[in-house]
Amino acid sequence: MAIEHDTEAGPPNAAIGETTPKDVEVYVVCAADSIEPGDARSFSLSRITETSENRPFPIVIVRTAANDYVGYVNACPHEGIWLNFGAGEFFSRDRAFLRCGRHGANFEIETGLCVDGPCQGKSLQPIALAVIDGEVCLCGVTLVEDDGYPGAFDDLDDTMEIMIHPD
Ligand code: FES
Repeated sequence: MAIEHDTEAGPPNAAIGETTPKDVEVYVVCAADSIEPGDARSFSLSRITETSENRPFPIVIVRTAANDYVGYVNACPHEGIWLNFGAGEFFSRDRAFLRCGRHGANFEIETGLCVDGPCQGKSLQPIALAVIDGEVCLCGVTLVEDDGYPGAFDDLDDTMEIMIHPD
């Protein structure tokens, strides 16, 4: 599935890295109704950091029972591993909390705050989401293909799309 890339102030499908400071990067991640209320989906993305490095950017998007969408970097603040480690489950048994599959830390779904576990008092790193025309979009980061930077002499395609692979 391809992620669509757009900028609010720039041309549609602008090439990666062509933004100006006032541009807002917006990436379509998935259809809003592809996540059931009370469920979550993870995605393995890559982003460009403030220091222009290409880094893995695993995220989890939760659709709450109240139909809000919240998202976090899928990394536990305790040891940094993904929350659905092990059985692939994101939630506590009663589904009231996000839960780390490694040591069982519980996180408030709406805030990401750890309320129980070895990282109690710390929080999951939130990501900025917006639901636009029925699609969950990611804002505030610059994504890249996860197969590394293009070579210096590669012919860059101005309409390059980012490929999104749901976990
Ligand atoms: S790695 Fe998540 S609680 Fe330890």
